[in-house]
This record gives sequence, C-alpha cells and structure tokens, in this order.
Amino acid sequence: MPENAILDALRWRYATKSFDPTKKLSEEQVALIVESLRLTPSSFGLQTWKFLVVTDQSTKESLQKVSWNQPQVSTCSHHFILCRPATYSPEDAIEFLDLAAETQKVPRESFAGYEEMIGGFLGAMDGDARAKWMEKQVYIALGQLMTVCAAEQIDACPMEGFDATQYSEILGLEAKGLVPVVCCAIGFRAADDHAAAREKVRFATEKVVEFL
Ligand SMILES: Cc1cc2nc3c(=O)[nH]c(=O)nc-3n(C[C@H](O)[C@H](O)[C@H](O)COP(=O)(O)O)c2cc1C
Repeated sequence: MPENAILDALRWRYATKSFDPTKKLSEEQVALIVESLRLTPSSFGLQTWKFLVVTDQSTKESLQKVSWNQPQVSTCSHHFILCRPATYSPEDAIEFLDLAAETQKVPRESFAGYEEMIGGFLGAMDGDARAKWMEKQVYIALGQLMTVCAAEQIDACPMEGFDATQYSEILGLEAKGLVPVVCCAIGFRAADDHAAAREKVRFATEKVVEFL
C-alpha cells in the first residue's frame, strides 16, 4: 500500500455523523475552503454553481428536520449547500466569456469559436439534460471540498439525505434561481462519534481499477 500525506488524510477522513458543536471553523479555514470551491474546475469553465453556507443555529435546526433528522446538520460548524442554477442557456455563458477575455487580456472576438461550441453543446440538450450536466459539475466541487477538508484535518459529511424542495422553501432558493444539489456539513468530530471508529469499507484495487 503506498504511503504519503494525502493518503494519510484520505484514510483519516470519514463521513462524520456527529460534530462537536462547541468547535467552530476559524475564519482562515472558512476562507481556504471557500477558495478551494471557487478554484474547482468545470465543464467549459462555466462554473454553473453557487455555494451557500449556513451558520445560523436556528436555520441549521430547521434544515436538520428536513434532512432525515441527521444530527450532522445542527452540530456542524458550517453547513454547505451546493446548488446549481435552475436553468442555464447559451446567453448565461456570456458573463464567463466576457470575464475570460478580460482576464486573459485577449479580444472578446477570439472567443467566438468557443462561444459557438458552448452554444452547440447546450443546444443539443433539453432542460433535464442541462440540469444533470450542471449537477455533475457540482459533484466535482463536492469532491474537491472533501479532499481539501481532509488535507486540513477538518471533518466533513457529504449529504444527499435531505429534501431539496423543503431546503428551497426554507432558504428562499426559488427566488435566487437556485436548486440545491448536495450538501456538506463541516466542522470537527465529536469525541463520542461512533462512526469515527468504523473500519473503512472499500473494494480491493483489482475490483475497481483495471489497467488496460
Ligand atoms: C454524494 C454522497 C451523499 C451522501 N449522503 C450521506 C447522508 O445523507 N448521510 C450520511 O450520513 N452519509 C452520507 N454519505 C456518506 C457515505 O455514506 C460515506 O461517504 C460512505 O459510506 C463511505 O464512508 P466514509 O466516507 O466514512 O469513508 C454520502 C456520501 C456521498 C459521497
């Protein structure tokens, strides 16, 4: 088995079921997590996401009730809700293309071919397919978030066990044009979290990886 710091961190992390509610992320830790989310790569670079961060205790408690009552939500320090836009069309890519031209100091016209490619890609998909495509991007952000947390010895629990419609109502997401995709409760494990002692269950390398 190879040994290095990243693998140690990945073995250390686990889906934390119970956080110590008295332990909060520092401002520096929040800033690092937020910047790592912002740096997530995405299809065409379009960044079809928005990350909401809930710290208000009563809001976390309301969200827990519609998250299968999972204690991670109210005990964590910061509850991240990873969202996608409700809809996305080629016109929505313009903001990105304008920014790309400005950032890379090239004429906007040099992105004409890229813009056409994006238009063709999106044009081939209906609303459902676009939603699925955006959700895939959001999961890349979730993966990056969990790995960064592990590397920094910050605990996290990725969560699909929540009612997206209820989240949307509680947080007013329809008005923001957002759909919640997946969550991640972040903080520090409680000393008595039973899940911490569980052995990791993973298939053997030969089962999940094949070199051709
Ligand atoms: C997308 C996703 C959604 C998950 N949803 C939940 C959840 O709602 N509640 C929970 O306790 N664990 C949830 N998990 C945690 C998994 O059960 C856990 O990652 C898996 O059993 C492997 O264990 P480990 O993360 O501790 O290594 C989720 C994991 C992923 C990746």
